[in-house]
Amino acid sequence: MAKQADLLRHWIAEKTGEATRDMLKNRIEGSRVVAVTSGKGGVGKSNLTLNLALALAAREQRVVVLDADLGLANINIMLGYEPQYTLWDVVQEKIPLRHSIQPGPRGIRIIPGGSGIAALAALEAVEISRIIEGFQELEGECDWLMIDTSAGISANVLTFVLAADEALVVTNPEPTALADAYGLIKAVWEAGGRVSLKLVMNRVSNKDSALQMGERLTTLSQRILARPVEFLGMVTEDANVGRAVLRQEPFWSLYPRTAASQDIGAIADRLLERIPPPRRGGWGAFVRRLTTTWAHLEVSEQNTLGTGGK
Ligand SMILES: Nc1ncnc2c1ncn2[C@@H]1O[C@H](COP(=O)(O)OP(=O)(O)OP(=O)(O)O)[C@@H](O)[C@H]1O
Ligand SMILES: [Mg+2]
Repeated sequence: MAKQADLLRHWIAEKTGEATRDMLKNRIEGSRVVAVTSGKGGVGKSNLTLNLALALAAREQRVVVLDADLGLANINIMLGYEPQYTLWDVVQEKIPLRHSIQPGPRGIRIIPGGSGIAALAALEAVEISRIIEGFQELEGECDWLMIDTSAGISANVLTFVLAADEALVVTNPEPTALADAYGLIKAVWEAGGRVSLKLVMNRVSNKDSALQMGERLTTLSQRILARPVEFLGMVTEDANVGRAVLRQEPFWSLYPRTAASQDIGAIADRLLERIPPPRRGGWGAFVRRLTTTWAHLEVSEQNTLGTGGK
């Protein structure tokens, strides 16, 4: 009996040691790069990105938000300001990356991507390394890079998802949004993505049925794609979200006690509680993957379009 207890103690000590080592290794390998994405548009990515960044900042995390929506930059509109510079100015070598950063509430920092994001794909190696250096320099001061992407499974969106350490796949409980979330998960799997996928169900009125739907989606992904997708959490359908958007202020700041803010807080806690997936080399490696994957996906997308209908 005593021997068994010793063995158990030994086993626990070994496992705890492993977890600590993993966490230390993650710290060394860089801060977390999280893409926030969705199959269907308008499901709440930008609101989740901004308000989750604020909830993380309230938990003493240092966060940079990269507004990578190629269609319409959303984050600055949600904060009611016009960015002076975007990543485009950095790409054009007008300013260093640091100067393109906008200060946000609670000390979060925002990089407006603008058309500079798309331009990254066409840069020469030497220009890319300048951008990489800028990101690496910033990384030393930050714990998280949160990326607000466009919706869908275009090369642009997939590039961000494939380059990140983790991706939050946002959906709402509508069948169309769920089907598109599954389509996105499948596209990531087909592209051989190593990113860790986490599902967030937004605009939930009935938590029990939303949980069931979320679990159905994660089980389906596991069964058909053999790809684990973690169910990270839910955000309640909350009229204060729309009110805050109209006032161009984050709901997390304006209505800290509203249901959606509480849910975002719980999601932030869960992200911090869990041992993060292994980092893939920090922000520098992220930008490098971004540029290489982009070119590759764009070529295959063109090929697919070219052979379509045959
Ligand atoms: N939890 C919520 N409760 C109520 N309304 C919400 C909630 N989340 C989002 N909304 C509404 O949905 C709108 C769209 O949200 P948001 O802009 O964050 O979506 P998006 O996925 O970033 O859209 P796009 O694909 O166009 O970038 C918001 O303006 C808000 O009115
Ligand atoms: Mg958006």
